[in-house]
Amino acid sequence: MIHFLRGASAESLKGRVLLRLDFNTEDEWRLKSALPTIRFLLRYAEKIVIVSHKGRPIGFDKKFSLRASAKFLEKLLKRKIIFFPHFRFEKIKKTIAASPRGSIFLLENLRFLKGEWKNDLKFAKKLASLADYYVNEAFAVCHRANASVSAITRFLKSYAGLELENELKNLSKVMKNPQKPLTIVLGGAKAEDRLGIVKFLKNKVDWFLLGGAPANTLFLAEGIDIKDSVALRRHPEKVRPFLKYPNIVLPIDFVFSGRKILDASPKTVQVFKEKISQAKTIVWNGPFGVIEKKRFEKGTLEIGKAIARNRRAFSVAGGGETVMFLKKYGLDKKFSFISTGGGAMLDFLSGRKLPGIAALERRGGKKSK
Ligand code: 3PG
Repeated sequence: MIHFLRGASAESLKGRVLLRLDFNTEDEWRLKSALPTIRFLLRYAEKIVIVSHKGRPIGFDKKFSLRASAKFLEKLLKRKIIFFPHFRFEKIKKTIAASPRGSIFLLENLRFLKGEWKNDLKFAKKLASLADYYVNEAFAVCHRANASVSAITRFLKSYAGLELENELKNLSKVMKNPQKPLTIVLGGAKAEDRLGIVKFLKNKVDWFLLGGAPANTLFLAEGIDIKDSVALRRHPEKVRPFLKYPNIVLPIDFVFSGRKILDASPKTVQVFKEKISQAKTIVWNGPFGVIEKKRFEKGTLEIGKAIARNRRAFSVAGGGETVMFLKKYGLDKKFSFISTGGGAMLDFLSGRKLPGIAALERRGGKKSK
């Protein structure tokens, strides 16, 4: 059973909290969505020790330091953040102990250490020694079995943060009792994850609208020449069964630029818009073109607007690129829910048990040793 922060007693939140956040984004929205939890904790907790990762460094790499994130958080919260640029735990503990009530700390990028990557119990225990309880407010990394996401809950009483609770509530709504028709819109450059969702949800979903690499991968399996377009080129035999799914809608023509398909065509967008307008539940992950270039963002923008216009539908979007794009055009506010997760949202919707969520369920009630 997951213990939610929202339902915790003031008494149980009195001590030092180890708060797992996700600073792994160029944009600030993921961090901003954690602010209510930080403010909530400031009311009850004695001190807050924040931990996070950034990027996928191997060993210490200045480029992935969280020093700038500490400054950024300081600005948002208008409170001092004490940053630890090292992992000398005894020293860290002493500084925490000597600091006044209400102090906030941030440790350096945990992925500089192998123990984080390996979900190492000894490392998790060290982290746990910095606090009295743990809060996970990092849905976006819950699909990783990392020490500060998974093993940590073996040592500290653990809670799901306010935004993590929202994620579970909203994404479960899509999984369990979606209003029909349910339409899932998938683009982007990573075909494998997206096709995983299609397979898992094939009997639940009315329409899969595919663009980007997932669509290109199916075209390739069908023997259509997509030239150098982004696609999953391994194991076409594994992809072929998808061609028989009656609920997959593919682009009807292509916008090539040079040797690559770089956007959805107006005709395709028209077909997709029609399905979108009939849907009562819509999930979107992944753009339909190379949106970094203005001239190839048209298809994605039209799809985004069409989803935003369907006010009867429960609409969810996730994935860094998709969300940043929606925010750029102010369309995010018109969605019912914006997920902070990219891969995590896809894994959750694919029906996989996320290690971070499993860890909260498993040990949510255990006391620190
Ligand atoms: C994300 O941004 O999706 C999460 O922080 C996870 O990052 P990762 O894919 O490097 O584990």
